[in-house]
Amino acid sequence: MKNILIIVAHPKKDSFSFAMANTYMESAQNRGENVEVLDLYRDEHQQPFFTYDDANALSTDTCMQYYQDKISKADELVFVFPYWWGSFPAILKNFFDWNLSKDFAFKYVNSRPKGLLTDKTVKIFTTTGAPKFIYTITGANRRLKNMIKEQIVEFCGMKLDGCHIYGSVDTSKSNTDKILETIKAL
Ligand SMILES: Cc1cc2nc3c(=O)[nH]c(=O)nc-3n(C[C@H](O)[C@H](O)[C@H](O)COP(=O)(O)O)c2cc1C
Repeated sequence: MKNILIIVAHPKKDSFSFAMANTYMESAQNRGENVEVLDLYRDEHQQPFFTYDDANALSTDTCMQYYQDKISKADELVFVFPYWWGSFPAILKNFFDWNLSKDFAFKYVNSRPKGLLTDKTVKIFTTTGAPKFIYTITGANRRLKNMIKEQIVEFCGMKLDGCHIYGSVDTSKSNTDKILETIKAL
């Protein structure tokens, strides 16, 4: 049985991001996995904008302890968010800034970074307003995937196990049922 932590960064509970998170959660639970969902916008442990006196020696406060405990216990981290301005919502960036801290998520050995979260895999589910073919042609989807893979996931020693970027998810929602069916089958 795997411990799966789903981290959702969307301001609206009735968003398609939550529909994707719930679909993935139900499929995983049906397979017998242990799943927890973290709703960053509504979680009671809200973290202020990241700030520090010494970035290399952050003091671990209760919020960091809370989130890092959850990350530590997870075998799989699943991030679900809408694609905003070429990236993820600021609340998720803030989550990374605080909680993937030095000596928890990585350390330096002979001046070289070494990831410490080596027992974890990561899945990404995100949606763009733009059609997939446009973001494939322009390279926008590849840039997002590579940034997450190289700068976050692998930097911390984790392995990317799927970066699912679905396009044309706008107000029409004409393709959303099909996307949820795809997620169910993963
Ligand atoms: C602040 C903001 C920035 C956005 N930036 C982009 C963008 O850079 N590219 C894009 O294709 N869609 C962009 N969108 C559209 C969202 O990606 C789209 O509405 C979302 O994927 C729909 O999923 P949801 O129902 O879960 O919000 C943006 C939307 C907002 C609110």
